[in-house]
Amino acid sequence: MLPANLREDFPLLTRTVRNGKPLVYLDSGATAQKPRVVLDAERDFYEAHNAAVQRGAHLLAEEATELFEGARADVAAFVGAQAEEIVWTENATAAINLVASGMGNASAGIGGDESARFRLGPGDEICVTETEHHANLVPWQALATRTGATLRWLPVDDEGRMILDDLDQLVTERTRVLAFTHVSNVTGLISPVQTLVERAKAVGAFTVLDGCQSVPHLPVDVRALDIDFMAMSAHKMLGPTGIGALYGRKELLDALPPSIFGGGAVKVVTMEETSWQEAPMRFEAGSQPVAQIVGMGAAARYLGGLGMAEVEAHERHIAAIMREGVAQIPGVRLLGPIGDENARDVIGLATVVVDGVHPHDVGQVLDDAGIAVRVGHHCNQPLHRRFGVTGSTRASAHVYTTEDDARAFIEALATVPAFFGVSS
Ligand code: ALA
Repeated sequence: MLPANLREDFPLLTRTVRNGKPLVYLDSGATAQKPRVVLDAERDFYEAHNAAVQRGAHLLAEEATELFEGARADVAAFVGAQAEEIVWTENATAAINLVASGMGNASAGIGGDESARFRLGPGDEICVTETEHHANLVPWQALATRTGATLRWLPVDDEGRMILDDLDQLVTERTRVLAFTHVSNVTGLISPVQTLVERAKAVGAFTVLDGCQSVPHLPVDVRALDIDFMAMSAHKMLGPTGIGALYGRKELLDALPPSIFGGGAVKVVTMEETSWQEAPMRFEAGSQPVAQIVGMGAAARYLGGLGMAEVEAHERHIAAIMREGVAQIPGVRLLGPIGDENARDVIGLATVVVDGVHPHDVGQVLDDAGIAVRVGHHCNQPLHRRFGVTGSTRASAHVYTTEDDARAFIEALATVPAFFGVSS
């Protein structure tokens, strides 16, 4: 069980919203609220330690560097990695782009022989899935265009589950990269990571896991998952905006060329050429957002302190309440698996389509009741297209979401068809 008084850690949750209603925050899939320890960590950094990291010869610089590298160790420990396998990035999108662009740069000859294993060209293939949000699709489309490689994808069924029947035909010796999400941001489905990784390894493909919707909500151990790279988003894991991280196996990171070039990332620079530092520094050119990084470290410690198994159990429970409630409302369709048996692989959210009502109108009715949800395509047009809709309404939970929040969502949602005169 999570602590009964956990919500007291989140100052924002006490505010009222539209029509003086208490806030029911069900938009954590887009961004999570922040516990006081994260806010305090950032404030304390600026009030007591602020300095440029890794370059000053004074006490403040030393303290700031310790906090900066301490946060790296904390985030690494949170996902079972070594500190030097964590690279700071602006967000999770930037983390995936770092890998894709690095491979593109290797293909252009940057990094020389050391980077040769990342070169792609015509005849090579990149495989994604039909459930990816844009951040784990568009960078791979760009890499395919840049290198002449072919983009392929695993299809999903009517519930949004990856269809694995043709996995061996789709992921073959030609496949150089298999990139897929750990948890879908639309259906909440947990992907069959082990099956996908085993196939990728059998054919020698790199694996890139999108951990945006998993790392904040369930235990993730990169060694146990045996993946090569993983993208993480701080602001979805109760941390600050403007920061994320890439996990990469050290020996791979040490060979992948950077894609942001500049000071701090280099060893020797002449007018003709440059050699780079080892990872993670080779990817961290320029000044880093140190306060946000310190905040991300605090978020990892906070979640780790709650226990991710407890977090997962809580979010499965909330998702089950929301999904069971939605299933009882006539005229409302749940995207993803339906029913107890099918929903066992789902965590943290319920995404719905109300027949005959635009998602923005659904959101408006919920907002009037004080309930914050996300509406639209959630940066995932292909999966909505697969489901035959242009958008949906998503209620997504986190550690602070209560059973009452879930019930308030169901009650307000149940009024929507009649409100718009589309009751069946
Ligand atoms: N951040 C996006 C979401 O809300 C992708 O799921």
